[in-house]
Amino acid sequence: MTRPAATASQGRVLIVDDDSTTRVMLGSLLRHNGYIVRLAGSGEEALKYVTDGEVDVVVLDVVMPGMGGLEACRRIRQNAQFGHLPIIFVTAKEDREARIEGKRVGADDYLIKPVDSEELLARVGNLMLVRKYYTHLEREREDLKRTVEEQTDLIGMAMAEISKANQAVRNFNDQLIYRLSKAVEFRDDETGNHVQRMSRYCGIIAVRTGMSSEMSDAIRIASALHDIGKIAMPDAILRKPGGLSEEEMSIMRRHADIGYKLLSGSGSHMLELAATIAWTHHERFDGTGYPLGLTGEDIPVVGRIAAVADVFDALTSKRVYKSAYTVVAAVKVLRQERGQHFDPALVDALLLNVDEIAAIMVAHQDRE
Ligand SMILES: [Fe+2]
Ligand SMILES: [Fe+2]
Repeated sequence: MTRPAATASQGRVLIVDDDSTTRVMLGSLLRHNGYIVRLAGSGEEALKYVTDGEVDVVVLDVVMPGMGGLEACRRIRQNAQFGHLPIIFVTAKEDREARIEGKRVGADDYLIKPVDSEELLARVGNLMLVRKYYTHLEREREDLKRTVEEQTDLIGMAMAEISKANQAVRNFNDQLIYRLSKAVEFRDDETGNHVQRMSRYCGIIAVRTGMSSEMSDAIRIASALHDIGKIAMPDAILRKPGGLSEEEMSIMRRHADIGYKLLSGSGSHMLELAATIAWTHHERFDGTGYPLGLTGEDIPVVGRIAAVADVFDALTSKRVYKSAYTVVAAVKVLRQERGQHFDPALVDALLLNVDEIAAIMVAHQDRE
């Protein structure tokens, strides 16, 4: 039979046999056929070569003094790193039990003593191919794992960038809404912090009624624009020190409609919310409000929330025509108007958080 050319690249074979003659004979045969050969005289010695990672295929004698082939095989298989290392058992012809046990502890193949050269070369050659294929697969798996990890890192970085950009857009939107609301306040009352307080009260009431933190935040931000329609009110009415005539009042009431027209139709969730609040914050629970005269729960909940927050802040703030109510006095008014001007549940929601509301009042009080 033609032998393959002897090259050092065929792979590494470990021959384990307590009989030195067999060891040397099998070793030189394999070496002659291009394999790198290691020789071990015991199970213990074999384990050392294997754990040092110097072996591709093991040819393992079963019966040896000390640690036999079965035990050595069992120990090799216990180490996950060598779970796929090809192992060929060498057994006596009559030792059927050892062959069965060998299969059980994880041997891949067996040879009968005395070992036939051609058979040895064929078995080693086959298992070496399996070994190389497995090593190749392992390497590809590692490469793939590395690629996936790299891609995951890149995706993670991109997501972080997107989230940063989203946050920047959100901040920009919030700032724009806040500054727009300040524009109205400048015309109305230059020193007032009404919008800051009122919008925060709205947020607190929304949370208390069980709305999500996202929705409550949106209501807090959007409610700052509740009086944006006042931008279209003439100075003579807006800045009139005394009470308004009936005609002036009806002009003033138009700010709800104007605010809605200004803010609606953009398709932005936040601005649509603001439009609804601008439109309905002067509706009253008993149906006597404006501009539509809606009743009870026909009034959008955001409008009902804004009504409570808006009036509470108006009561507790100083105006040219009145001094500021104490919290106790303002609470009394809210209680009286429970079910008339205001949704009773929302009055209760404010009252349950009156400490937090009072803290905001102090933190954002108007300059004298
Ligand atoms: Fe208003
Ligand atoms: Fe207001």
